[in-house]
Amino acid sequence: MRAMANGRLTKGERTREALVAAAIDRFARSSYQRVALGDIARDAGVSPTAVYRYFEDKLALFVAAVDSDAEALVEFARARLDLGDGVPSLADLLDLMSEGLADAVIDHPLVSRVLAGDPTMPPRQVLPDELLSIHELPEFASLTLEQRAVLSREEVASIVESGLRFEAVLMAGFSMEIFRNDDLTDPEVVYSLHEIGEETRHSRLFSRLLAQLQPTARNPLSRWRWVAAKIIPRILRRRATLDVLVLGGEEIPDLLQRKAAEHPDTDPFLREVNRYHRGEEARHLAYARAVLPSRLAEPGRVDRFLVRHVVPRIIHMMFDTLVHPGVYATVGLPTFDTWKRANKTPSRVALRHEATRPIVASLIAAGAMPEGRLPKPWRELAGVDASGARN
Ligand SMILES: [Fe+2]
Ligand SMILES: [Fe+2]
Repeated sequence: MRAMANGRLTKGERTREALVAAAIDRFARSSYQRVALGDIARDAGVSPTAVYRYFEDKLALFVAAVDSDAEALVEFARARLDLGDGVPSLADLLDLMSEGLADAVIDHPLVSRVLAGDPTMPPRQVLPDELLSIHELPEFASLTLEQRAVLSREEVASIVESGLRFEAVLMAGFSMEIFRNDDLTDPEVVYSLHEIGEETRHSRLFSRLLAQLQPTARNPLSRWRWVAAKIIPRILRRRATLDVLVLGGEEIPDLLQRKAAEHPDTDPFLREVNRYHRGEEARHLAYARAVLPSRLAEPGRVDRFLVRHVVPRIIHMMFDTLVHPGVYATVGLPTFDTWKRANKTPSRVALRHEATRPIVASLIAAGAMPEGRLPKPWRELAGVDASGARN
């Protein structure tokens, strides 16, 4: 089925389009469960069995309908924002949402329902298999497509929640620095205010994303949050320690977001969120890397000990808990057992090494490590030898 040279559609393409249009209409009006493939076929003027020539099953037709409606919405945004052939960025779409979404909601009820996280819509897989934490474990093969969709949403929600909490701590750190500074015209103060401004925008976006994903997993580690709440204010006072942790909190998501944004099977909305966030974070990351040498120039004894021996363990824990154990219960798997094994799979370990190696490189470049004697927790975290070279 190929479009003819003159731009007209083949008969098969016309039938497919009619099916997609009928599906948008039906799915926009009732819940996914209530819509029958036979009704869509009748609306499109084809026999119920003919549908299977174009779509594998109801879910495949639903996905095609949502994609088509979403494409139309992007088209609308492009025209409204006067972008010519340019693709609207997420920032453009957010602008549009704050002014003209009312028309779009009326014209695209299906995509609006999906974006609003309507529970009567089937869950879509938002991350491809290979980016899911357990794809190398044997039990992954026996998960149904629907379970993979649930797992992908729960994993993304868990990561987004970690991101939002991390940004909250980061903003607290910046706020304290502003408060302690005698000179409020200091460029560092101005930079801090700028970064806080960006992080509040990210966090609002993350909060909206969480509302759409509607995760149901209970995080069994959340009962330890009060311990973290006691320790964090102490860390905020330790400048060098905080800066290395911040670098960890920037490098790890940077890699995860790049992988998700580059993969063709990532959900388009999620991909845009990743692209947008990574673009703004690139500046923060560059700043964190640039200031590290001066911050680590003369650390006190406590700070030096923390940076060498404790921070790598905290970063390791941050990485391992990005996807928390409770996520696995949503697809009927044991929590802690699956979580421990998932974090030991070769691809997960390789991901951790790849994400944390730049931190080691920055620390060595800043002269913060004894030459040729990189402490063991750093070697384990990043999979490097005593000189910082890859194992
Ligand atoms: Fe951010
Ligand atoms: Fe940031």
